[in-house]
Amino acid sequence: MTTIGVFLGSVRTGRIGEQIGAWVMDAAAERDADYRLLDLADFDVPHLVAEVVPGATNKQYDDPAVTAWSKAVDACDGFVFVTPEYNHSIPGTMKNAFDSLFGEWAGKPVAFVSYGADGGVRAVEHWRQIVANLSMTDIRNQVALNIFGEDVNDGELSPREHKQAALTRALSDLEEKLG
Ligand SMILES: Cc1cc2nc3c(=O)[nH]c(=O)nc-3n(C[C@H](O)[C@H](O)[C@H](O)COP(=O)(O)O)c2cc1C
Repeated sequence: MTTIGVFLGSVRTGRIGEQIGAWVMDAAAERDADYRLLDLADFDVPHLVAEVVPGATNKQYDDPAVTAWSKAVDACDGFVFVTPEYNHSIPGTMKNAFDSLFGEWAGKPVAFVSYGADGGVRAVEHWRQIVANLSMTDIRNQVALNIFGEDVNDGELSPREHKQAALTRALSDLEEKLG
């Protein structure tokens, strides 16, 4: 069965991302693929300081935390990136975790679920440029959650109906790419 990693990239205390990752996983539970949560908060991925660049490591790393991250990502055939927008771009922690690997991502398809004041769409536009360097196939249909009043109320995620439909569409497109 196809394995899809749901990469939850916010690690902040009290992050709304945790609810959004859970929402994606709930929808995924009813689908015909093995979705697994890759919560960055569960992986102590250090700042990238290794001398050998990840693209030249052949997936071999000195740091056991990077090795654990590598194995988790490598086990996936495709991904859903659950990304907040920080200062009109992607979170630095998420980029560091992405940069720390190479072949584990390369050539695989990726769909996006973003969130922010304007749905986090600027973060996704940046992600699309970034994943191109690893020849990843970015899925056109995306989910953009407005977390200040429309899809989150009093700190509780309650996505509008058309956002649920957008999630179904993005996951279907991703699975289709994986055959
Ligand atoms: C460093 C930082 C920068 C932010 N910049 C933006 C931004 O550019 N656009 C936006 O819509 N929200 C921005 N926000 C607000 C976030 O959308 C909001 O805090 C959200 O809860 C972050 O996701 P998280 O709780 O999962 O970390 C920013 C938040 C942080 C912490």
